[in-house]
Amino acid sequence: MAVIIDGKKISADIKDELKDKVEQLKLQGIEITLAVIQVGNDPASSVYVGNKKKACEYIGINSLSYELPDTTTQEELLSLVRDLNANEKVNGILVQLPLPKHMNEDFIVNTIDPKKDVDGFHPQNVGALSIGHKGFVSCTPAGVIQLLKRSKIDLSGKECVIVGRSNIVGKPMAFLMLRENATVTICHSRTKDLKEVTKRADILIVAIGKPKFITKDYVKEGAVVVDVGIHRDAYNKICGDVDFDDVFNNVSAITPVPGGVGPMTIAMLMNNCVESIDNQ
Ligand code: GUN
Repeated sequence: MAVIIDGKKISADIKDELKDKVEQLKLQGIEITLAVIQVGNDPASSVYVGNKKKACEYIGINSLSYELPDTTTQEELLSLVRDLNANEKVNGILVQLPLPKHMNEDFIVNTIDPKKDVDGFHPQNVGALSIGHKGFVSCTPAGVIQLLKRSKIDLSGKECVIVGRSNIVGKPMAFLMLRENATVTICHSRTKDLKEVTKRADILIVAIGKPKFITKDYVKEGAVVVDVGIHRDAYNKICGDVDFDDVFNNVSAITPVPGGVGPMTIAMLMNNCVESIDNQ
């Protein structure tokens, strides 16, 4: 019988631990402030940003909210980011992506002070992760590691296969798995015979952005499956990149969608905000 890895419960535990830490810091006179910038009113981004602000409130982190119209120029946004970089009261800066098409996301992200880059997207933080130095780690892959560790799933020496090579999930995931002494393979759209590779995995991490793509034909008996995807299926029901019902009887543990990786991303963002005070 497969274990369902409960991301809701694990993320709630992490948030409660952080809440205690923030209370202790307040007793020492230390306050944490996160600046959240949203440009335009993409509905999905508004939901994510709202959830991030709610999490801040729960934990006791101050959030400064900047809701800018989609007519904002790149120079205006850069100027706000530079002001927040210079503001000693601001510990973390988050620019919600995607940005409107007239802006260069890389340029904006690269302008955020790496010491305030709680998303872990700045090249300096990505580079630090790749060579095992201290720095902010991208929240979703950091959340996957916490899900596995807190579910007592040992990673050392395991065959870990990651499907998807994005800068935000696949690549940092590979470095984190290496840090845990797993043997790591990254697959992508040009991988020949994907099934043959994924069937080697003791731990299969799927972040390809295709609903219910991974069926039991892709999964070794007894594997642990982590599903990073989130979509709506033909019946408007939320589903992941993995066909949960199809693989369930073949795996030893699996993350559900919703309630698996999703809630962990915000918990790890809050963790990065708390860690930001060590940087400053
Ligand atoms: N858009 C979707 N996910 C994220 C995220 O984790 N951080 C930011 N800044 N934007 C996003």
